[in-house]
Amino acid sequence: MRVLFTGGSGKAGKHAVAYLAAQEHQILNIDLVPLRHPGVADLVVDITDAGQVFNALTSHIGMGEMDGGAPKPFDAVVHFAAVPALHLRPEVETYRVNVMGTYNILDVATKLGIPKVIVASSETTYGVCFSNGVVDPKVFPLDEDYDIDPMDSYGMSKKVNEVTARSFQRRSGADVYALRIGNVIEPNEYDRFEGFFADPGQRRRIAFSYIDARDLGQIVDLCLKKDGLGFQVFNAVNDTNSVCQTNEELLAQFFPNVPLSRPVGPHESLLSNRKIREVLGFEEEHNWRRYVADPMAKG
Ligand SMILES: NC(=O)c1ccc[n+]([C@@H]2O[C@H](COP(=O)([O-])OP(=O)(O)OC[C@H]3O[C@@H](n4cnc5c(N)ncnc54)[C@H](O)[C@@H]3O)[C@@H](O)[C@H]2O)c1
Repeated sequence: MRVLFTGGSGKAGKHAVAYLAAQEHQILNIDLVPLRHPGVADLVVDITDAGQVFNALTSHIGMGEMDGGAPKPFDAVVHFAAVPALHLRPEVETYRVNVMGTYNILDVATKLGIPKVIVASSETTYGVCFSNGVVDPKVFPLDEDYDIDPMDSYGMSKKVNEVTARSFQRRSGADVYALRIGNVIEPNEYDRFEGFFADPGQRRRIAFSYIDARDLGQIVDLCLKKDGLGFQVFNAVNDTNSVCQTNEELLAQFFPNVPLSRPVGPHESLLSNRKIREVLGFEEEHNWRRYVADPMAKG
């Protein structure tokens, strides 16, 4: 597929782009800084400028396409570009970049008739991660039907983007899928896990979840290949928590007052990935136990 990817130079994007390029998608990465991945074209674009977004979405994918005449339409847009957390930029700037950038991408993509748009939402929409004070979710496991209620500007921007995505889906009929991405772990970050095991409390605000950056690439690719679902929200996390303790231990220590809506497995991710497994056919390839010794493993 001919894919326009926004934010492909970032932490999550560079692994997702590499995964998609390996599946032989043709990719134009638009970002404030180039990625320089072999076979992937870069265009420096500020997504908060609607004119730049329109130009990018009607571009060739680099010099390689120019012999073919006028630019062809993109088959899909994957939108990752954002201020990716609280405390990086002033709150109002985080909100502005994320909300207006996403509006511009969805507006231009759907007006051009691009049939698939995948947008990066966030686990922070569940309203625990960046909340003031130590707060509980209403229930575990967290699934896509939860009434999300963030109180911070980053989480608000991602919730608003889901609303915007749903509205543009309804207006255009395109498939628009929002991924509530968990804490992204790059291949070189598994040395952090022993620290997580020693102090699981540092993972409380993200309900102990994680997503391997390469498995996130697989999820994006599955979304590109799955048509006809209209507007959808998918949690994008690995199958298990990022700590070695059992859910029984974690819930008793960190969330003693949070009810369960259904039984959970001993290590099952409390940010549920059941929907991507059942609807998209996701099968994780990079569980942390491939890279880190599990202190709880028997034998
Ligand atoms: N990293 C995580 O743990 C995590 C968790 C949940 C959701 N997310 C979401 O996933 C996406 C990617 O996050 P990341 O960790 O790779 O962040 P990142 O900051 O590493 O990458 C974001 C990229 O967007 C680009 N960008 C920012 N503003 C831009 C603009 N105005 N125009 C064009 N490009 C711009 C940046 O240059 C950067 O390359 C974001 O939407 C983020 O909110 C990330």
